[in-house]
Amino acid sequence: MADNRPIGLFDSGVGGLTVLRAVRQLLPDEHLIYLGDTARVPYGNKGPETIERYSVTIARTLQERGCKAIVIACNTASAFGLRAVRAQISLPVVDVIGPVAQAVAALYPAGQVAVLGTRGTVASGAYVEALRAAAPHIRVTQQACPLFVPLAEEGWTDGPVTREVVRTYLAPLFAGSPPDALILGCTHYPLLLDAIRESLRADFGADLPIHESGPHTAATLRQLLDGSGLRNDGSSPAQVTYLATDHPASFQASGGRFLGEPIAVAEHVDVH
Ligand code: DGL
Repeated sequence: MADNRPIGLFDSGVGGLTVLRAVRQLLPDEHLIYLGDTARVPYGNKGPETIERYSVTIARTLQERGCKAIVIACNTASAFGLRAVRAQISLPVVDVIGPVAQAVAALYPAGQVAVLGTRGTVASGAYVEALRAAAPHIRVTQQACPLFVPLAEEGWTDGPVTREVVRTYLAPLFAGSPPDALILGCTHYPLLLDAIRESLRADFGADLPIHESGPHTAATLRQLLDGSGLRNDGSSPAQVTYLATDHPASFQASGGRFLGEPIAVAEHVDVH
């Protein structure tokens, strides 16, 4: 029997919409509720306990709204909040770090992989742990890119300032032996994909595969729904509900860029 309850996704703001886009592509029959914690963004520079608390309260809000599964569509919240959310919420939970880490580890089990992320995600070591759990001989370098989030939110995806910031963050990754692949360990970074690719080519002569978490997370979610008999059947048109903890208007404005299409309606929600 089809399960027509929605899937809940959350992020610190609009970045997780890059994950929602991938989920919608792979699971077009599923109803989705997306919650952007725009009142408290950014998560990337906050402490582990704070992010853990935010993650649990948001997951609980989504559970109360009748969700059948939760996607933590934020790397920082996945790094610091996954364990607590799994322990305190009685729903299946998918994060954005495990799925991409497992896929990349399978591709380069003895290679060198570079991870770009927020300060929090890098400090947590969550990617290093997940990659090494799947491939003990993999080498991992990491680079925190705190300026990428405001650049992406402001729509500065190109231009001299962005090019210089990207070049500066990528440079340390090429100080020693160059990586075989790059992981975009933050859901905001896919907006800077072209700038990153261009800098790799122009500044470092590198044409590396770049992996982002959205498609891998969506594939893991589909497997989980199939394995637990939680799939919807498409008998009614799938709906996406957008919730924001700050003004819905600003969520709609910047969210449209991350989603790749306008967001017509978003509601305000309190999660305290
Ligand atoms: N989207 C968040 C992530 O994937 C980063 C944005 C923030 O710092 O809140 O980590």
